[in-house]
Amino acid sequence: MKKLIAIAASVAALALVGPAAAQSPIIIKFSHVVAPNTPKGQGAEKFKELAEKYTNGKVKVEVYPNSQLYKDKEEVEALQLGAVQMLAPSLAKFGPLGVKEFEVFDLPYILPDKAALARITKGPIGKGLLAKLEPKGIIGLAYWDNGFKIMTANRPLIHVADFQGLKMRIQSSKVLEAQFRALGAIPQVLAFSEVYQAMQTGVVDGNENTPSNVYTQKMNEVQKHMTISNHGYIGYAVIVNKKFWDGLPADVRTQLEKAMADATEFSNSISQKENDDAIAAMKKAGTTTFHDQTPEEKAEWMKALEPVTQDMASRVGKDLIAAFKKEASAKSN
Ligand code: LMR
Repeated sequence: MKKLIAIAASVAALALVGPAAAQSPIIIKFSHVVAPNTPKGQGAEKFKELAEKYTNGKVKVEVYPNSQLYKDKEEVEALQLGAVQMLAPSLAKFGPLGVKEFEVFDLPYILPDKAALARITKGPIGKGLLAKLEPKGIIGLAYWDNGFKIMTANRPLIHVADFQGLKMRIQSSKVLEAQFRALGAIPQVLAFSEVYQAMQTGVVDGNENTPSNVYTQKMNEVQKHMTISNHGYIGYAVIVNKKFWDGLPADVRTQLEKAMADATEFSNSISQKENDDAIAAMKKAGTTTFHDQTPEEKAEWMKALEPVTQDMASRVGKDLIAAFKKEASAKSN
């Protein structure tokens, strides 16, 4: 009798396992615009690896790099519609979504170093900004680092006057628009995937970006001069469709949160080296002349760009800028 009960129990268990095992995995489509061998590209791959591992295959992450699925503006719309579940747009691309406060990160020279970045993104300012996404149907999961920007063009960019009349590609940020206007250049919003060709055909003369982005898009083939100015910053917010995230089984969501925390640590740990390596590789390729700024040249740029922060205060938020600056200049313990 005992044996019979045991058999009946295992048959019942099998019947339960059957359909559960046959259940298809939860799919997360993670779309982004940069190359796989960038800090963000590698962060996305690390998240895929860990998410699939921690959930025991209950979740499958499909990473679509290089604007394969969607370009900058389209990908945010796709996320809201639920056509993709996860993105990591740069912090300069949240204005069109209606959360223009993220553009505080675009203000020239606002971030002195990566320690300040960590204090801001991990503290109340970073958390407060992510919380602003929720009413848009989006949850902000993490900040991923890329790095400080260099300037590129086909003429040397030494003095502010060198920018006069240059058509410079920008991301869709009003702060970046104001920045290039302050330098006397003509800013032009373009999707990241279109930049190389726009440079090749002369639609734009130059751009600002991180060395990793410049190198992995082969911009050094079509830009003769680069100035290592570190005048601004590019980083990302990893975001997910709220309806999708809230609808996940609680245990799966916890495992994915852990995968995201670990992938974040990984991505942030490689970003500086990726950018340093990109500069070294471009120097080796020899198609571009690099210029390191003297302190006097840097001071000249800073002076020209100083009014941008004041001019953008009504857009980004005066109090936010003040709090950001205070935290940025605080000493790390
Ligand atoms: C750009 O558009 O230049 C960058 O935001 C691309 C990226 O995602 O790093």
